Amino acid sequence: MSLLRLEGIEAAYGAAQALFGVDLAVEEGEVLALMGRNGMGKSTTIRVICRMMKQSRGSVQFDGRDMARIPSHLAARAGLGLVPEGRRVFARLTVRENLIAAARPGAWDLRKVTGLFPRLAERSGQLAGHFSGGEQQMLAIGRALMTNPRLMLLDEATEGLAPVVRQEIWAALDAVRLDTGLSLLVVDKSLAELGRIADHAVILERGRSVWHGAMADVSGDVANTYLGV
Ligand SMILES: Nc1ncnc2c1ncn2[C@@H]1O[C@H](COP(=O)(O)OP(=O)(O)O)[C@@H](O)[C@H]1O
Ligand SMILES: [Mg+2]
Repeated sequence: MSLLRLEGIEAAYGAAQALFGVDLAVEEGEVLALMGRNGMGKSTTIRVICRMMKQSRGSVQFDGRDMARIPSHLAARAGLGLVPEGRRVFARLTVRENLIAAARPGAWDLRKVTGLFPRLAERSGQLAGHFSGGEQQMLAIGRALMTNPRLMLLDEATEGLAPVVRQEIWAALDAVRLDTGLSLLVVDKSLAELGRIADHAVILERGRSVWHGAMADVSGDVANTYLGV
């Protein structure tokens, strides 16, 4: 049984339908890249998975449960760790407070998260609002890990960051994967980096999943046709 399975997901913002049939699965311990050009429905799909939005059709099964029955404020408790689009941290809390507020029991604790991102340890007493974009993103990932999720979802986590900071984040995701075998669902624009970390890929086009397969096969014609690269 897959850890996460979406079947025939349709969803709308008011009268504007955004998803018209999304199917995808994430297996235990795997990294899935969710790909597609801007506006194709990646963030909407993530919102549906995390119960920030209700689907109008289709089903989301996570860890053997029908997520339609789970209210949004309990999504984290169900084991979903979201690093949302546009890093959202509590600006008026310190780093340490941000991390502790998210904590649930498990392998990931303050020590382990600050070990992964030493900058967070150095600045643990500072207000998150004073952080650079890269540091806030590390904190957002740290917060998601503190919930000890079964699946971590990252929506454009490296967007707008300097190359050196991006590399730090990719290296951390690699380390998380090797260390705990955590399952990841990753949305990112960098094909090269996704190619290194992801096992499988699903490509969305205008709100539909139109291609799925091995990440290694997302090149040439496939990348040309669906990603415009
Ligand atoms: N908050 C919103 N309100 C209305 N329409 C939205 C909203 N967010 C996204 N959309 C629309 O839904 C579609 C999919 O968007 P989105 O899921 O954000 O795409 P992606 O993450 O792949 O760039 C687009 O047509 C977009 O304009
Ligand atoms: Mg998006």
